[in-house]
This record gives sequence, structure tokens and C-alpha cells, in this order.
Amino acid sequence: TRHLLSIDDVTAEEIQQLFETAAEMHDVQRREVKKLPALRGRTVINLFFEDSTRTRSSFEIAGKWLSADVINLSAKGSSASKGESLRDTVLTVTAMGVDGLVIRHSASGAAHQVAQWVDVPVVNAGDGMHEHPTQALLDAYTLQRHFGAGSVERGALEGRRIAIVGDLTHSRVFRSNVKSLAKLGAEVVAVAPPTLMPSGVGEWAKADGFATSYDLDEVLPEVDGVMMLRVQRERMSGGYFPSPREYTVGYGLTRDRLRRLDEGVPILHPGPMNRGLEISADAADAVGSVVLDQVSAGVAIRMSVLYHLLAGEETL
Ligand code: CP
Repeated sequence: TRHLLSIDDVTAEEIQQLFETAAEMHDVQRREVKKLPALRGRTVINLFFEDSTRTRSSFEIAGKWLSADVINLSAKGSSASKGESLRDTVLTVTAMGVDGLVIRHSASGAAHQVAQWVDVPVVNAGDGMHEHPTQALLDAYTLQRHFGAGSVERGALEGRRIAIVGDLTHSRVFRSNVKSLAKLGAEVVAVAPPTLMPSGVGEWAKADGFATSYDLDEVLPEVDGVMMLRVQRERMSGGYFPSPREYTVGYGLTRDRLRRLDEGVPILHPGPMNRGLEISADAADAVGSVVLDQVSAGVAIRMSVLYHLLAGEETL
């Protein structure tokens, strides 16, 4: 059974194939075609043990526009709140006959564990601080379309310098993005304050071929794209350092930094945004902001992923 648990699960060629299908799915999204029958008769369950706005609703829309029956289950309101284990929850829903599972969980590795318990495709919708592969795919797809003037032209990311800035220690979006952007030939520079740079990043950066920096002002004049990541206060049990004020001064995409940024540089943020902390309202709403393009791409990418995993053809 094929799963999407990590960007390690897909080759550069498969990512390109997913992008080309996603581009076709945009027709459905533009409502030129109301629905595709591809997953008629299939049932997909969204199991969300951690909160979500974008990922959960876009997986639901994606499944429905492919004519699948979609069920949503979250920890609140399910028997997980009574202490039922993840394994019992997963085995219970698969015994009902679901054809695919989409799972978000606060524990790193949860999706991998679930994939060992079931014999239907599992999609990782974010597992703790580990990976968020569909987010990375939609980010790369957004950038590829941006640099390819609307097409998903192969090679459009080749040699582009992309800064990923923020709370990298806690970011599954960062961990998935360094892999997918490297596969597509982009040059990533990871920027964070020393306290929010993952430990052992030096060896990791060497292995995965990305650069690191503590100095956002030095990096910004040289980038083709900038991805701002959320400060994840909910994962900071040991306190909050630097302070919000210090963080914004050193690492926020402030109005002043926006003014110095080349106009053609796309600004990404996976959301939810802490406006005024890692990104100013001016930057979030700037002409160069592609934040809502990312959201829109999320539906097309998730349609593509569900189609390739569940349509019953050897397409991925
Ligand atoms: N980007 C992202 O995963 O957003 P949600 O947490 O709202 O799904």
C-alpha cells in the first residue's frame, strides 16, 4: 500500500507528476467543472487529533470534489477524549471500511505508526515537529507556478534561493520543505535565532544541502523567495525566548524589511499567521504575498495526492 508520510516517499519525478495533476485539478477549483467522479464510492476519513483550519478543510473539499465520501473526526468530540488509544481509534474506523486515512497528530511519527496498523493509504497531515508533506508540496507548487508564470514548468525552481525564516526547531513545515525544495533544485537558506535553530543543524544542512544563517538582514537582499514560519508558542514548554519584541526586531518581516525587499520576491507563510510577530500586516497583505495562493494550491495538491493514492491506478 502506498502512503504519503514524508517527502522521502516521493521522487522529484513523482512530485512533478503530482504538480501536473494538481494543475488539472485547478479547473475543478475554478468551478469550470463542478466535480470529478474519480473517487466515487471511496470513503476517506480525516482524523485530526490536533487543531487545523486549512489542512482539514482543504482535504475535505479535495475529497468531495473528487466525489469521495468524506468523514471528519477530531479528538474533541470523539472517544479519544475518553481515553481511547490511537491504535483502537484507527482500527475502529478502518473496520468500518474506509479506503484512506488522513491524519494529523501532535506526536512526531504518529502517521508512520498508523501506516503500520492499516492496509489502506495513509496521508500525513502533520505529525508533531516531524513532517507536513502536503504543505511542502503546495508551497513548492506555489513557487513553481510563480516562477513559471502560471505554469508548472519543470525546472522553474532550479537555482532559486529561498529563505525559510522562523521557529525552525518546532517546524514540520521546515523539515518537509528543505527536502522538497532540494529535490526540485532550489537553494534553501534556513534563518532563525540561535535558540530556535534545530540542534545538530550543521550536519543536517551538509547532508541535505542547505545553508543556515542567524542574520535575516544579510540574507534578504539575495533571495528569490521568502517563507516566513509561525512562532509555535504551544510547543515551547520551556519558556519563550527571544521575547516577542526581540523576535520581531531580529526576525520579523516588518514593514521596514518589506520596503527593502525586491518587489518581485514572493512572500509565503503556511498559516496560521501571528500578525505583528513573525510577519507584519503590511507584508502579509503585500502585493508580493502569495499566502492565499498557497491556500488555494492546497486544495489542488490534496486532490492530486488523494487521486494518485486512491484512484486505484498505479499512478504514483
Ligand atoms: N498550514 C497549516 O497546516 O494550517 P492548519 O494548521 O490551519 O491546517
